[in-house]
Amino acid sequence: MKKDVILPESEIQKQFEYMSEVKTEVGTGKKVFIKTFGCQQNEADSEKLLGMAEKMGYCRTETSDDADLIIVNTCAVREHAELKALSISGGYKHCKEKNPSLIIGICGCMVSQEHRVSDIKNKYPYVDFLLGTTLIHRFPEILLKTIREKKRNFWISPETSVIAENLPVSRVTGSTEAWVSVMYGCNNFCTYCIVPYVRGRERSRNPEEVIKEVKQLISDGVKSVTLLGQNVNSYRPESSPDYGFPELLEDLCRLDGECVIGFMTSHPKDASKRLIDVIAAHPPAKGKVGISRRFHLPLQSGSDRILKKMNRHYSLARYLELVDYMRSKIPDVSVTTDIIVGFPTETEEEFLQTLEAVKRVRYDNIYSFIYSKRKGTAAAEMEGQIDEEVKGQRLRRLIALQSEISKENNSRLENKQIRALIEGVSKTCPEKLTARTEDGKLIHFDGRKEDVGKHGIFLIEKAECHELFGRLLKTEEV
Ligand code: SAH
Ligand code: SF4
Ligand code: F3S
Repeated sequence: MKKDVILPESEIQKQFEYMSEVKTEVGTGKKVFIKTFGCQQNEADSEKLLGMAEKMGYCRTETSDDADLIIVNTCAVREHAELKALSISGGYKHCKEKNPSLIIGICGCMVSQEHRVSDIKNKYPYVDFLLGTTLIHRFPEILLKTIREKKRNFWISPETSVIAENLPVSRVTGSTEAWVSVMYGCNNFCTYCIVPYVRGRERSRNPEEVIKEVKQLISDGVKSVTLLGQNVNSYRPESSPDYGFPELLEDLCRLDGECVIGFMTSHPKDASKRLIDVIAAHPPAKGKVGISRRFHLPLQSGSDRILKKMNRHYSLARYLELVDYMRSKIPDVSVTTDIIVGFPTETEEEFLQTLEAVKRVRYDNIYSFIYSKRKGTAAAEMEGQIDEEVKGQRLRRLIALQSEISKENNSRLENKQIRALIEGVSKTCPEKLTARTEDGKLIHFDGRKEDVGKHGIFLIEKAECHELFGRLLKTEEV
């Protein structure tokens, strides 16, 4: 396997020089707008793109209408995500007509695929640059080149697997939560998935860098940090090969301050009992760094035959054993999952096995997806692609089952008292605030904005499938 490449300081320095040059070139008062699709990894990348843009003199705007630089950070995981990104990018044509000096760039997973690059080159002449996921640290360079040379640039190179430390970051998550990538890329090649082709090979940041970043976040008042990686269980830094994800969690829990550390995503083939023991030993607590009680463990299918065809490397029995162990060690754990319906050749009987698995585990939430054919992946070439109508029906049946389970699980919380972190204004009812429980559930309540960032004790008055409604009984002073 190729060695991890931590970019030398001098390479990053060069990008900082390009940032100053762009700043001189564009002057002051310019605005940047970023539209992000996809997972938290992409959100974290957008925070870096924004951080670099701010160093280049741009300030953030929330609409594309008054922007001087528009970036679309795309996702390729399902066709729907790509179509949305293409349609949004198409809509920016009129912005360019109004403001010919506007620069439009497309980044992210979609443009790390050759066929999409040629589509955009030919059909979207007003797009000025494309930048692949593994090259985002070179954003200042491509922007400078695009502005100075007044020509289009297309840089994609998913085979490059580097780690760029110390890039500027402009957090968009608010003052209480933050994303921290611990590793990049994926080596698993699940047969349905595009991610390994667009994010490059697995590479882990050195623990010292991760610890330094989390320490700083905690001292800045961040109360909830989510560690990101496509498969955090294969976290293995080049500098210390005996050090893995459980060790990283233990080191983070030694930091001073109060914070809940969560992580996404765990692959069942690599999630170990040791990891579960470490989580069990470090519950979130007042004045301490602890580990979130939410465990996201993607199942994908309840059929062993389909799991094998997906190249997942675990059986349903091994998965259930892990969940049982987790529940025995962490009784308050909230288990969530991802499920794909309509994978090629999936029979009605195999789909029923998925429903049975969902009933057996009784997840707190599931993210369910209709299988989407991805060009270049093994499953796209498989015989036995499932009819769209059948896939749609299976999805609806799965969602209906999970809604019942989530509602029943949540209703057990009614009339109970729960500790939660007050996060901010509710996105669904703007007259209310929201708080996040230690296992990731959302509580809507009436409260005062001054309490954002504090922990509170809530009485749960009503439970729905996806959210709780409660009353704030008291706040803890920080
Ligand atoms: N690395 C993570 C997930 C990355 S993608 C993991 O392994 O769990 C997030 C989810 O999207 C996957 O868990 C899967 O359920 C879904 N997904 C990925 N490719 C898909 C495809 N081609 N069609 C439908 N869903 C897909
Ligand atoms: Fe995709 Fe599988 Fe890698 Fe997750 S582990 S990103 S599903 S290939
Ligand atoms: Fe999408 Fe790329 Fe994430 S394909 S799900 S944005 S890793």
